[in-house]
Amino acid sequence: MQEIYKCIQECDNILIASPIYFSELTGALLSVGSRLQTYFCGKFFRKEIPIKKPKRSAVIVGGGGDGSVHRPYEKACNLLHHMNSHDVFPLVYTHNTNNNPTITDINAIRGINGIAKFFNEIRE
Ligand SMILES: Cc1cc2nc3c(=O)[nH]c(=O)nc-3n(C[C@H](O)[C@H](O)[C@H](O)COP(=O)(O)O)c2cc1C
Repeated sequence: MQEIYKCIQECDNILIASPIYFSELTGALLSVGSRLQTYFCGKFFRKEIPIKKPKRSAVIVGGGGDGSVHRPYEKACNLLHHMNSHDVFPLVYTHNTNNNPTITDINAIRGINGIAKFFNEIRE
């Protein structure tokens, strides 16, 4: 985690990308996400500003077809808020990949291009 904490401090953008498992981000990703609790403790108990530099961020989720894409997006936004990112691009998703392959999912491809543009915009 030390390497990841360092990246989180220094980076300009954060992208969370995950398959959907049981209508949620994967358990493996949530395990890493649970280590972000240190930022909550820093803010809430120690009254620190644990991450000074705000970040832009985006979320991509992909699923076979069950459930909704919104629940994992909400959870990802929650993790991003812990990392001082409140400027989150609208959800990009590819769903129902059981029937429609992602490679022909025009909205997903457009969304990914949108994220690239958003991340590279000049900031004031
Ligand atoms: C344990 C498990 C649970 C899954 N649950 C969902 C689900 O709730 N909704 C959905 O749309 N797809 C679900 N899927 C399908 C995956 O999102 C999809 O197959 C994805 O491409 C898997 O990525 P991976 O091969 O990197 O694990 C699930 C797949 C697995 C393995």
